[in-house]
Amino acid sequence: MALAHSLVVDNIGSLITNDPTVGEGPLGILRNAAVVITDGDVEFVGPAGATADERIDAEGACVLPGFVDSHTHLVFAGDRAEEFTARMAGQPYDGGGIRVTTDATRATDTSELDRLVRLRLHEAHWAGTTTIEIKSGYGLNVADEARSLEIAKRHTTETTFLGAHLLPSEYEGRADDYIDLVCTEMLDASRPHAKWIDAFCETGAFDEEQCRAVLEAGEAAGLGMRLHGNQLGTGPGVQLAVECGCASVDHCTHLTDGDVDALAGSDTVATFLPAADFSTRQPYPDARRVIDAGATVAIASNCNPGSSYTTSMSFCIAIAVREMRMTIDEAIQAVTTGGAAALQRDDVGHLSPGAAGHLVILDAPSHHHLAYRPGVPLIRHTIGPLGSES
Ligand code: NIG
Repeated sequence: MALAHSLVVDNIGSLITNDPTVGEGPLGILRNAAVVITDGDVEFVGPAGATADERIDAEGACVLPGFVDSHTHLVFAGDRAEEFTARMAGQPYDGGGIRVTTDATRATDTSELDRLVRLRLHEAHWAGTTTIEIKSGYGLNVADEARSLEIAKRHTTETTFLGAHLLPSEYEGRADDYIDLVCTEMLDASRPHAKWIDAFCETGAFDEEQCRAVLEAGEAAGLGMRLHGNQLGTGPGVQLAVECGCASVDHCTHLTDGDVDALAGSDTVATFLPAADFSTRQPYPDARRVIDAGATVAIASNCNPGSSYTTSMSFCIAIAVREMRMTIDEAIQAVTTGGAAALQRDDVGHLSPGAAGHLVILDAPSHHHLAYRPGVPLIRHTIGPLGSES
């Protein structure tokens, strides 16, 4: 029988546990603390000075749970720097570039796509992310959607089938036929590699009834449901997600009072993607209004080559605090417990005994620095999955 291996991160100036029963305030903060991880799980949080097989000295820094990034599109080839440059010169974003990435992704062999995903995961882990969701959505045919998910599943359990991302050009004028394909043959091929189903509910992508059909087909096949909604304007996405019982509705950039009320009265998490609003020059959502109404919120990177080419959750925190009227504590919760709620996970996003031992050591004395020092690489060390990339 293999011996247990334990690691202590000691001499922590400020430890964010996200467990109010363990430390002060909603973030459950412990001062002058230690955390012991045994065989990958948190065994102990408490005063500094704990012992273990291996010791890391945090030298008075802040330690917090690893980020839970609940929305990414990491399986793609190529980039869209030209589109971004044109946008900065005044071109609006309409999602049409998804077809450009689809062409590039279809033309790239599986080992190269896998290499690209690994590089992006390495970057995300270096930036503090320890749990990540990965969507398909740049295959848009049976073989390439299934292939994208097969690659994603090599790296995470949180895989999402997004065949209903955009109408591929070969189906121009035949959106309902494409939705039929998504709900039958494409779903059958993707199902073995997917945990979730998603659709892009937006003018120019898919309408309410098409998205409802996709969600219902996915649920009947045993997948959990999530939805892209209200990214480029108000629309039916948020209320459809709530009605269907989606775990999360993502973007939530343009919300009516009815949308906010629906979110507040539901278990559907409102996931904000502020880096997409940044890169597409959308207005930022008013997160304060959503939080004050009582909804659960998350923040995710939405890493993709079109609307949000970043893996940096720290960047998202800084935007959320500066532009979305979130407190720093709320933003920290949104990238940890919020992301976990969006993925319906209770083992990540916090550092209570028994939780996954995924954590980040900052090059800073407190979590406030993540918003206070935007753009500075404050992640000194990421411990725990995404496969021990750093
Ligand atoms: O979440 N909105 C739809 N999908 C992505 C963008 C994809 C792209 O532009 O390539 C998003 O922003």
